Amino acid sequence: MNVLGIESSCDETSVAILSENKILSNLISSQDFHKEYGGVVPELSSRAHLQIISPLVKKALKDSDLKLKDIDLICATAGPGLIGALLVGFTFSKGLALSLNKPFIPVNHIEGHIFSGFLMDEKPEFPFLALVVSGGHTLLLLVNNFTEIKKLGSTIDDAAGEAFDKVAKMLSLNYPGGPIIQELALKSKGTDINFPIAELKTTYDFSFSGVKTSVLRFIQKNNVDDKLKNDIAFAFQNAVTGALIKNVEKALKEFKANSISLVGGVAANKNLREEILKLGNIYKLKTIIPKFEYCGDNAAMIAFRGKSLFEEGKRYDLNSKPFPYLKKDGFNY
Ligand code: KG4
Ligand code: ZN
Repeated sequence: MNVLGIESSCDETSVAILSENKILSNLISSQDFHKEYGGVVPELSSRAHLQIISPLVKKALKDSDLKLKDIDLICATAGPGLIGALLVGFTFSKGLALSLNKPFIPVNHIEGHIFSGFLMDEKPEFPFLALVVSGGHTLLLLVNNFTEIKKLGSTIDDAAGEAFDKVAKMLSLNYPGGPIIQELALKSKGTDINFPIAELKTTYDFSFSGVKTSVLRFIQKNNVDDKLKNDIAFAFQNAVTGALIKNVEKALKEFKANSISLVGGVAANKNLREEILKLGNIYKLKTIIPKFEYCGDNAAMIAFRGKSLFEEGKRYDLNSKPFPYLKKDGFNY
């Protein structure tokens, strides 16, 4: 089966082709121009998706040595995300499915991330704990199989990636801030600065707005030179990693899991990757972290998730409501 996946929920247009269990192509076009504005401008994002989507599909087919008629299933992100951006990929894909008379599966973007570990050679083993950390979401989930996902906790304010982006902005760094903070943190020789993070003892929820405020206060009170910037980045990154790991460990003590999977854009963070691998070692659990290409937004994960739903028997009527997954965490389980 050849599956075409399309992702356009935010500032990446991505087209992928999955053939049986092999990714033949995973093209990602990032809209770098948002940097100028310090964040994603929705209207500009929609226009850029519209311009690039068709050439990307053509290139993905060419790279995979396939024709449109060889595609058996079409999957597209159907939320959550920016409405105008989603609309481009979603309606393009529906139109393609209609014209080719092929099945179409709408995919929840977060579920795409949750199962992105399956794109690796070594795959998560059910039930697994998934830590989803991206620019818009921070979720801890127990994934029993391809259709049973139990939410254990989520952020009550900012998402982890959003906190990275906001702290980067406070330090006058570019967008997206996560990779830049990581680079600065690597330059730090270590520091006594400590940014406390709220621990929500009775739940598996996360909160990152307090740490953001502590960083802001610290910046306001100190003369921030380059060295101090590196130390702030180091201390902030440690604080976020620590809070994430603490909750995963708490869940490991309560729930039986056969593996751990760290996914989403922030899963690209080296410090977080190392710490979750250490935790996996301590608990003797297989720990799956997708390679960088599959951490950020990509269509390979959308194709995989769509295919798994199709194989579970899910079908979609092209005449039904346009966006099935617009809720912030969008689960329909
Ligand atoms: O999953 P993603 O590409 O898009 C969303 O669905 O949100 O995640 C983007 C987020 C941004 O907030 C970005 O700053 C963060 O992932 N990010 C990182 C790193 N690379 C990307 N955060 C920390 N360290 C990184 N290396
Ligand atoms: Zn994402």
